[in-house]
Amino acid sequence: MSGTPDRRTTEPRDTLNIVVLPGDGIGPEVTAEAVRVLDWFVTRRGVPLAMEPRLFGAAAWAAEGTTMPEATWDAILSADALLFGATGSLDQQHIPPEERRKGALLTMRRALDVFANLRPVKAQPALAEASPFKARTIAGADLVFVRELTAGVYFGTPRGIETMADGTRRGVNTHAYTEAEIARVARFAFELARTRRNHVTSVDKANVMEAGRLWRDVVTEVHRAEFADVTLEHMLADNCALQLGRAATRFDVIVTDNLFGDLLSDCAGAINGSLGMLPSAALSAPGPDGRRRALYEPIHGSAPDIAGKGIANPLGAILSAALLLRWTAGAPAEADRLEAAVEAALAAGARTADIALPGEAVLSTRAMADAVIGALEAAA
Ligand code: NAI
Ligand code: MG
Repeated sequence: MSGTPDRRTTEPRDTLNIVVLPGDGIGPEVTAEAVRVLDWFVTRRGVPLAMEPRLFGAAAWAAEGTTMPEATWDAILSADALLFGATGSLDQQHIPPEERRKGALLTMRRALDVFANLRPVKAQPALAEASPFKARTIAGADLVFVRELTAGVYFGTPRGIETMADGTRRGVNTHAYTEAEIARVARFAFELARTRRNHVTSVDKANVMEAGRLWRDVVTEVHRAEFADVTLEHMLADNCALQLGRAATRFDVIVTDNLFGDLLSDCAGAINGSLGMLPSAALSAPGPDGRRRALYEPIHGSAPDIAGKGIANPLGAILSAALLLRWTAGAPAEADRLEAAVEAALAAGARTADIALPGEAVLSTRAMADAVIGALEAAA
């Protein structure tokens, strides 16, 4: 008989180190609210997170003369996860291009090899009227994009703007995918589908693009060899854009490349009436310790048109924090709790300007987060 206690239940869990990168525009406004919500989980639910804010991009350039201070880069590489706001502002135009690249989001994604970008889209019943789509086509919609994030046309070479012999210019980008890059994101999508409704839609332009033909072949091969229990359909990207508006409920997991995933997830943003509603998680393969590197961010950008006014919708950032609870903290019940609180706040009528109907009362960024925290307290 062994008298050794189960150490896992008697020792406190390791604290997870979360590096917070608020960035530009509305990034700092919405990220502050996501951090406040995560603080609630630290103090009220004992989730072991330590949040550490760091400067990068335009803010770091202004403060330290570099878009990526060494201390920030070291923190990024050693973090358990990143919580990211948004990047992109006009006041970056004066920063030299090579400095801009150093602090760029694409550089970060590539360095961390976070190839699998999850973008869940769930129709919020309370927002049916805020959606430009008809309620009957989106009611019950619950889908997730798995967008390939570290290859394709945003990274391919050659790239650039060249001057041709006749003196006119030509812009060049290269859309390229290797078998390995396709296979790993396909595997991620099939595995995810097994935890959901077991259906994968693979989206490409195999009709007109060679890289799309390879995409379709490799997804089909991975399916046949390892995931025959999951149903797989192929869809052309232009048709997918239409079907998201016509019949969003037909989708479960949508796996697609970097460019189509970028475009189609914005289309799906219309399901809840605003880009400000959508979260994302970018994940690497598991490392030797079984952990994935992870970058959590709302899918929207820096929204310069509303920045600094305190009116941005923080729910995309807050729902990204829910993904952090699920994928990095290993606390799916806490993630469910947060998603339910967002739904409850919306059901009780909480609206920021982007999702309010004419005549509805409008909350500030901070007050919307208060409504979510209030719903968490009410359910606790
Ligand atoms: P955007 O996503 O910043 O804004 C598009 C529209 O949605 C705007 O009308 C904006 O006001 C609205 N919107 C976005 N987020 C919102 C929120 N949380 N609450 C309420 N309304 C919201 O895209 P846009 O205008 O095309 O790009 C602006 C800048 O952001 C550019 O510099 C772009 O490069 C950058 N960008 C950065 C991304 C990132 O950091 N991951 C992603 C997309 C764009
Ligand atoms: Mg985008």
